[in-house]
Amino acid sequence: MEQRIVTVFGGSGFIGRYVVRALAAAGDAVRVAVRHPDAAHFLRPMGDVGQVAIMQANLRDDASVARAVAGAAAVVNAVGAYVEAGAQTYAAIHVEGYGRVARAARAAGAERLVHISGIGANPASRSAYIRSKGEGEALVRREFPAATILRPSAVFGPEDALFNQLAAVARLAPVLPIFGHTPADAGTTRVQPVYVGNVAQAVANALDDPAARGAIYELGGPKAYTYRELWQLVLKVTGRRRLMVPIPFALARVQAALLELLPNPPLTRDQLTLLETDNLPAPSARGLADLGIVPTPAEAVIPRYLDRFRRRYRIGAVG
Ligand SMILES: NC(=O)c1ccc[n+]([C@@H]2O[C@H](COP(=O)([O-])OP(=O)(O)OC[C@H]3O[C@@H](n4cnc5c(N)ncnc54)[C@H](OP(=O)(O)O)[C@@H]3O)[C@@H](O)[C@H]2O)c1
Repeated sequence: MEQRIVTVFGGSGFIGRYVVRALAAAGDAVRVAVRHPDAAHFLRPMGDVGQVAIMQANLRDDASVARAVAGAAAVVNAVGAYVEAGAQTYAAIHVEGYGRVARAARAAGAERLVHISGIGANPASRSAYIRSKGEGEALVRREFPAATILRPSAVFGPEDALFNQLAAVARLAPVLPIFGHTPADAGTTRVQPVYVGNVAQAVANALDDPAARGAIYELGGPKAYTYRELWQLVLKVTGRRRLMVPIPFALARVQAALLELLPNPPLTRDQLTLLETDNLPAPSARGLADLGIVPTPAEAVIPRYLDRFRRRYRIGAVG
């Protein structure tokens, strides 16, 4: 049987690379559409010789998106921009770009589209980032009604921006910030981290599941944690002790506004807005289980990649 071609936008990103691996393992011919093909060759060994092809495409450009989806039976969109820079605005990527992929996928006759969004995506949010993700979802649904929308909670894995960032802060900072409206509620916002391998498998399974057509899934791991508990987990895994200090959201917003002047801000006001609200799959929503996936606990995976943040870690140390 001829291999089905699946185009993956954002295949070079954190989640995208695991999607490429999962699709290659499932036997698909994977076409990875990226802005910088030279930086994506590391993906080739994820499949057999010739199974993973790399091609240039930019979500802001009609012609390149159309070329990338030509002949594809399915399309996966794992593109995202966490900060705006130049032409890479939230509107250009999360709204127009997502709409462009959906429209091109339908025009090319693709049968399936899996779009990766996020829990909380909401066109009415006061955060420009979350608002754009919500508007993008709506546009995708309009352009490609059978699209499957996956909304992960925070995603963890070796290249994550979650546990790696917490561990990096815990290594350097004498005290750890927990944000809140009052000292009592500081650090109580909850999140349900989901393993990147589970998200990638969810993409692969959704492509083969007729029940996933037109459906939305909210993806979370086996357990919800408050941010205070996330810090405690990171401290335990890295063998450190630190005090947690409540920081009012209002003060944090002022600090974030200043940090946003940096090219790669470690904290933005949009991220703070995200930290104000629980990021949990809705109990009524479809989830990993509906795609036949048993979620992997963070405790089973993070010790391996947070090892480099451990106290007394030495390069080349044995045992
Ligand atoms: N990571 C999480 O915890 C998490 C949680 C919930 C939802 N999500 C969602 O999952 C998706 C992927 O997130 P991620 O963490 O994997 O992000 P990431 O590591 O930043 O990857 C983003 C990808 O998008 C590509 N990209 C950016 N601008 C592009 C453009 N104009 N044209 C084509 N490709 C472009 C990037 O490639 P180049 O920049 O090299 O072109 C990269 O491959 C996003 O929609 C994000 O909102 C992530």
